[in-house]
Amino acid sequence: MTEKNGDLMEKIVSLCKRRGFIFPSSEIYGGLSGFWDYGHYGNELLDNIKKLWWKSFVSGCENVYGIRTSIIMNPKVWEASGHVATFSDSMDDGEQFNVMFKTSVGTGKEATMSYLRPETAQGMFANFKNVMDSFHPKLPFGIAQIGKAFRNEISPRDFIFRSREFEQMELEYFVREKDWEKYFENWRKIMVDFGKDVGVGKIHELEVPENDRAHYSKRTIDFQFDYPFGIGELWGLAYRTDFDLKSHNASSNADMEYFDDETGERFTPHVIEPSFGVDRTVLAILLSAYTEDELGGEKRVYLKLNKNIAPVRAAVFPLLKNKPELVAKAREIYANLKKEISNIEFDDNGNIGKRYRRQDEIGTPYCITVDFDTLESGTVTLRDRDTGEQERVIISNLLSKIKVV
Ligand code: GAP
Repeated sequence: MTEKNGDLMEKIVSLCKRRGFIFPSSEIYGGLSGFWDYGHYGNELLDNIKKLWWKSFVSGCENVYGIRTSIIMNPKVWEASGHVATFSDSMDDGEQFNVMFKTSVGTGKEATMSYLRPETAQGMFANFKNVMDSFHPKLPFGIAQIGKAFRNEISPRDFIFRSREFEQMELEYFVREKDWEKYFENWRKIMVDFGKDVGVGKIHELEVPENDRAHYSKRTIDFQFDYPFGIGELWGLAYRTDFDLKSHNASSNADMEYFDDETGERFTPHVIEPSFGVDRTVLAILLSAYTEDELGGEKRVYLKLNKNIAPVRAAVFPLLKNKPELVAKAREIYANLKKEISNIEFDDNGNIGKRYRRQDEIGTPYCITVDFDTLESGTVTLRDRDTGEQERVIISNLLSKIKVV
């Protein structure tokens, strides 16, 4: 790790703590390795990323069904999926260690052992038949969810890069075997576009060699990002074949086949899986957005976040907080904008320069200032985060200026 890059990671961790993005979990007790809490701005950022993902991979697609499944499932799921046998990491002394968290369900003699899910994907496979029976989808179709996953990582590290509790956004896309390459390529492109949409800097694609692939995969591309500690995995795209559906069919006896009522064929669909860690996405976005520059002769730090994911879209200020007519007008503008865009903030603390710096540091794309001219002309100043430039805008045009198109 170069000093400059190491420095960048420290700066991000410190900004996240200072400005209420991310805190160590249970910090008042010294924290717990591999667990993190999101503060108000972190939570907003997370939510905006998840909404965009949902639009790109679920609601904006034909034939993708969004579901939400339980974190603890029947342990037979994890036997059939191969996780009990193979989801292990090597310890220093060469002993293999299964990274699934164990838990017990029920009490006393009735208690059974199960696991916290290490991937959300099995929720989709276990519900394949339910989705087929209730929606009768035609191939190709997908089942997707966003939710928590847990892995008892031997060495959690690098802030939220490798944690023990994290969130995944996963799509299982069911296709005919002969079509897998076509859909693999389709989803690869959509993943690249999503990276641009959320503002992740340069992504490298790595064709994962056979001996490094998960037990279920015949082809995997790792989408990698250049983190300060080195190049590492950000997302994955896998061709899971018919491994999971066939395994669940063999273990549960449930019918996992697809019946084509036009051709009369009956077969097990194959699966393409775009898989995303939400927290790694947050980290890659923050690292890509962090910028230091000089504005008006002063050094500043700002997050160059895309406006569609910024925790605060715009902040509204009265120029002076002790002038009731300015405060009233600013509050009125704030309330009207907030009806349309929820992440609008009102701020009258400190002088205007300090307010700009505070908003720059959390990546707010626009600041709106109400001054004495506003009362005369019905215009406000609209300041752009990246250039610091200000223009006068008629109040009724504000919404269209700050909206995401
Ligand atoms: N269903 C496939 C699957 O789980 P994976 O490559 O093991 O594949 C998918 O995980 C994504 O989940 C990764 O690309 C990464 O973004 C995220 N991820 C995995 N382990 C993680 C961890 N310990 N901490 C944070 N994110 C993690």
